[in-house]
Amino acid sequence: MSGRSIEYEDALALLDWYVTAGADEAIQDEPQDRYVEPNKLAASKPGTKQATPTPSHQPRQTRAGSAQTIPAGDEAIKSARQIAGECTSLDELRAAMEAFESCSLANTAHSTVFSDGHPSASVMLIGEAPGRDEDRAGLPFVGRAGQLLDRMLAAIDLSRKNEGASGAYIANVVPWRPPGNRNPTTEEVATCMPFIERHIALAQPKVIVALGGISAKNLLDTPTGITKLRGKWAIYESGDRKIPILPMFHPAYLLRTPAHKRYAWKDLLALQDRLNESEE
Ligand code: URA
Repeated sequence: MSGRSIEYEDALALLDWYVTAGADEAIQDEPQDRYVEPNKLAASKPGTKQATPTPSHQPRQTRAGSAQTIPAGDEAIKSARQIAGECTSLDELRAAMEAFESCSLANTAHSTVFSDGHPSASVMLIGEAPGRDEDRAGLPFVGRAGQLLDRMLAAIDLSRKNEGASGAYIANVVPWRPPGNRNPTTEEVATCMPFIERHIALAQPKVIVALGGISAKNLLDTPTGITKLRGKWAIYESGDRKIPILPMFHPAYLLRTPAHKRYAWKDLLALQDRLNESEE
């Protein structure tokens, strides 16, 4: 006997079920029974005003902080494209993304995960979307996958702490964490694409690495999967600039499939060669 009550075990099992289903964030201090109609609640307490719950772990502050209509599909993409296109510096782009509300993910995430490393780095690595650790830290690739990524970079003498030829600049296609670490939807990615495209245009890296299928498919605008794309150099067109881009397996995938680290090693060596060539 563990000495735990049945209620305790039931509560633990329920919590476990929520986490498995992807609900891994408490956004309010008190649970809210969504089955109870608000007007019934008010009616049950005559003369009392409904208190506004104060979330303990506030989602990212949005401009109005009020109920807002999120433009759907094309409208949101158009708005992102216009806003991103008007930014003439990375600081402006970061501020514009922090104020952007037309992607539903922006309203559930705690932070806009813009980038890490130095924008002068020769290589820009682009992942998929922040996870829970990144959302909390406000920085890309800080969790387990990020630690592996740092070790992979160190193996070819690159670091996000450095500038220029030995540096690594890191961002994501989607800057807001999808709840429960699910994959971003096609519509969410499409809304975020103008931001990462502008990010690349402003950072002007010499070489891009696309980490994982979502990043590679969207940057290369192809339905081909990462297993076929990885290790094959392609060209990313940013305005007039043609930037070599190398798709690689995502570090999170490598953590789950360590046998495929050998492909990642091959790709890292190809990246190192290309960077050396671009310095000559
Ligand atoms: N996975 C990503 O693609 N990006 C991150 O920032 C973290 C994990």
